[in-house]
Amino acid sequence: MGFLLGLFLVCMLSLISASILPGRLNFLSFSESFSILFGNQNIRLNGADVQISLTNSTGSGFKSRLLYGDAFFSASIKLPANNYTAGVVVTFYTSNSDIFNNNHDELDFEFLGHIQGEQWVLQTNFFGNGSVQRSREERYDLWFDPTKDFHTYSFIWNKNWTVFYVDDVPLRQVHRVDAMGGDYPSKPMSLYATIWDGSDWATEGGKYKIDYRYAPFTANYTDFAIYGSGCYQQNIQSCMQGITSGVTNFRGLEPYKLKQMKDFRRKFMFYSYCDDRRRYPTPLPECTAANA
Ligand SMILES: *[C@@H]1O[C@H](CO)[C@@H](O)[C@H](O)[C@H]1NC(C)=O
Ligand SMILES: *[C@@H]1O[C@H](CO)[C@@H](O)[C@H](O)[C@H]1NC(C)=O
Ligand SMILES: *[C@@H]1O[C@H](CO)[C@@H](O)[C@H](O)[C@H]1NC(C)=O
Ligand SMILES: *[C@@H]1O[C@H](CO)[C@@H](O)[C@H](O)[C@H]1NC(C)=O
Ligand SMILES: *[C@@H]1O[C@H](CO)[C@@H](O)[C@H](O)[C@H]1NC(C)=O
Repeated sequence: MGFLLGLFLVCMLSLISASILPGRLNFLSFSESFSILFGNQNIRLNGADVQISLTNSTGSGFKSRLLYGDAFFSASIKLPANNYTAGVVVTFYTSNSDIFNNNHDELDFEFLGHIQGEQWVLQTNFFGNGSVQRSREERYDLWFDPTKDFHTYSFIWNKNWTVFYVDDVPLRQVHRVDAMGGDYPSKPMSLYATIWDGSDWATEGGKYKIDYRYAPFTANYTDFAIYGSGCYQQNIQSCMQGITSGVTNFRGLEPYKLKQMKDFRRKFMFYSYCDDRRRYPTPLPECTAANA
């Protein structure tokens, strides 16, 4: 069949995964699971850790060797601790834009830099089938300083449900509703991590630009885990024929996790496209679904 059945089991994520993933997750070897995407000279492998940097000559990033259908993705990340990181974008996301130019899917964690004395902002977003005209951003503060220690950023994605987590706290749940049409991500995606210059838009909408006097900016990644079936790009057709994984049957957060999510959102979410009547006078269909 050409599938590599990558059933990797994670342990520290048992809180997230108790009801979803059987057993424990293993962490992935970087060199077996990922390849360098760009900025080779700014990537440093250090045992199980990977450090990617942004300098005045280039950003950098890496990408999984396989594409995944339904899956649970996770990494521990420590953000650049520089005094000034405006314009610096650090990402952890899935996409298939290299294969589907005009109708790609994407699920994003994006960290949007900060100006002195303020915290990094975390954004989540997603696209389905090239729905770039209808981006679905949410932005949050975090309850910790993400430059001090590693924290776990993870997401579950299957045909009907997506949940983003930080550590074991769910930030956002998306329940696919039919009215979304193709806007819900549906095709296999690769996992990416990048750091780059987003001066145009990242920090307070582009008000604060990058300052290379503070470079290099270095983000540190470790503890990669993917629980799901992967396949090579050549087998994309087979990938698209409904592969299943340990998260295929995930049917949304349990009540106590939903409550945890709502508490988080009440305290830390400061922007949601669902509440932005200027951009969306009529909220997008999933916004009015019961779980929103
Ligand atoms: C880029 O940074 C290097 C090292 O800090 C410095 O030597 C060089 O002049 C910088 N180049 C530009 C174009 O700013
Ligand atoms: C950070 O920048 C501010 C103002 O730009 C400065 O006052 C402070 O000393 C700097 N802190 C460090 C650790 O460099
Ligand atoms: C997704 O939800 C639809 C109903 O909208 C249902 O018919 C379908 O079986 C679900 N798919 C999975 C894989 O759970
Ligand atoms: C996705 O986009 C392709 C190409 O634009 C289109 O043919 C297809 O119908 C779309 N699928 C859905 C589910 O909207
Ligand atoms: C990245 O993390 C590793 C392991 O904790 C540590 O040895 C290294 O100094 C860190 N690098 C940076 C730039 O934070």
